[in-house]
Parts: sequence; structure tokens; C-alpha cells
Amino acid sequence: MLAMLAALSAHPVLAADDLAARGEEIAELHCSRCHVVSPENRMTGISSTPSFMILISALPDWHERFASFYARLPHPAHVRFEDDAPRPEDLPATTKEVILKVEDIDAIVAYAEKLAAEDGH
Ligand code: HEC
Repeated sequence: MLAMLAALSAHPVLAADDLAARGEEIAELHCSRCHVVSPENRMTGISSTPSFMILISALPDWHERFASFYARLPHPAHVRFEDDAPRPEDLPATTKEVILKVEDIDAIVAYAEKLAAEDGH
């Protein structure tokens, strides 16, 4: 047990990298429809939607905003968690629904932290 803990704590950076990589996958899958989510995909997204890099450099509280984006407009219209009730039938499906796991938020925040670090924030 102790040896296992020691082994785990020997690689904290690796674990954070894995989480950020998972966050990047989620962002490319679910967020890049509207946002430019990485410096490499500048040609995608909707031009009226701020890129992740713009959000991080323009908003001092970007960390808090990434941790709670699902509750901030316009996301409640298309994002819900696995355990949430399904979309009410009378709510029109104007856009593709995104269903996330709670732990996906940690991964998205880790990915935003990585983008921020790369950009010197
Ligand atoms: C249907 C389009 C759409 C999708 C999909 C989408 N967003 Fe957004 N997002 C927006 C728009 C538009 C804004 C700007 C809202 C504003 O300026 O008030 C925004 C703003 C944000 C903000 C800043 C919120 C704030 O309060 O300033 C964060 C963080 C964010 N999005 C994260 C995400 C993440 C993470 C995903 C994927 C899991 C995602 N978004 C998917 C359209 C989208």
C-alpha cells in the first residue's frame, strides 16, 4: 500500500497531463462546435463565440468560469449531466445536446490550466 502511494505520488505531473489530455478530447468533441478550443484549431468554431485562449487571457476569473461553464449562458440550453433528468419534451431541441460526467469538468479545467500555462498566465 505504501509502495503504491509512493509510486503514485512519484508521477503527479503525469496524472495532471492525463487529465488535461482528457479535457482536450472533451473540448474537441463537445466545445469546438462553437469555440476555438486550441491554438491549433483556429479555423473552426463560430466567430461570435470567444475562443478558449481569448477567455483565458481576457477574464481574470477564467478558472472559476471554466469550472462552472455549464451553468452559464448559453450552455444550460444544451449541456446536462448524466444523472440529470432528460431534456423536457416541450423544450425544443435547437442544438445538439451534450451529456457530461461530473468528472469531465475537472478534465476541462485541467485542460484550460494547461492552455493558460502555455500562454504564460
Ligand atoms: C452552442 C455553442 C456553444 C457550445 C457547444 C459551447 N459553448 Fe461555451 N460559450 C458559447 C458562447 C456563445 C459563449 C459566450 C457567452 C457570452 O458572451 O455571454 C460561451 C462562453 C463560454 C465560457 C465563458 C463563460 C462566461 O461566463 O464568461 C466558458 C468558460 C465556456 N463557454 C466553456 C465551454 C466549454 C468547456 C464547452 C464544452 C464542454 C462549451 N463552452 C461549449 C457557446 C458555446
